[in-house]
Amino acid sequence: MADGLGTALRGRHSPMDADDVRTAYRRQARTYDSFFGFVSRGARYRAIEAVNALEASNVLEVGVGTGLALPHYVPAKRITGIDLSHHMLTQARERVAEFGLRNIDALLEMDAQATSFATGSFDAAVAMFVASVVPDPHALVAELRRVVKPGGTIVFINHFARDRGPLWWAERAMAPASSLLGWHPDFRLGHLFTTADLARAKIISCGLLGLFRLVTLPN
Ligand SMILES: C[S@@+](CC[C@H](N)C(=O)[O-])C[C@H]1O[C@@H](n2cnc3c(N)ncnc32)[C@H](O)[C@@H]1O
Repeated sequence: MADGLGTALRGRHSPMDADDVRTAYRRQARTYDSFFGFVSRGARYRAIEAVNALEASNVLEVGVGTGLALPHYVPAKRITGIDLSHHMLTQARERVAEFGLRNIDALLEMDAQATSFATGSFDAAVAMFVASVVPDPHALVAELRRVVKPGGTIVFINHFARDRGPLWWAERAMAPASSLLGWHPDFRLGHLFTTADLARAKIISCGLLGLFRLVTLPN
């Protein structure tokens, strides 16, 4: 992001690398659903509803994690899920088997910042609570723009840090624990989106205390 507003929006953001992500989610894979998965449940449903409402059949879910969203897509959606964490994917595969889901085309160990999919492979992509985890958020957006067809849609649900207020203090205080948590409490909209993206995106607050934001970005 080269413009001044973008620079101002960036603030401090110290990236985790792919190994940090794998380590954090190897530790969390078994407990994820009952803690963060539970806290983020309402917001996740909002993102799934947004995807289900799209005129899109081929959908890429990046950072699919333990597959909490998978049983909730309408059967007409064909889902490909990818994740960096082998351990999270194992849980997702067990969920697919447990629910007998037939609309999950693949669950692949792959980096969302540099996938092996051909350009324009999907009608839509969705990233739920992933943007503040990936090592390079701008690379994530660029890759999603590449693999989604022109005219398609990219949906994000994420926590984005505030500019002020009590939560701002809490977010700043938690920031040094990023590698342990596996996500960045001080992650801001400007870490992910350019000013041009933000002008085109639809942004809605949702979830517990309005903690999360649903961002729908036309491709
Ligand atoms: C907070 S969890 C979210 C899981 C799931 N989307 C959900 O709603 O519960 C973040 C997930 O993103 C994955 N992840 C982080 N960086 C990634 C990358 N570069 N490529 C693919 N997956 C990534 C992590 O392994 C983890 O499973």
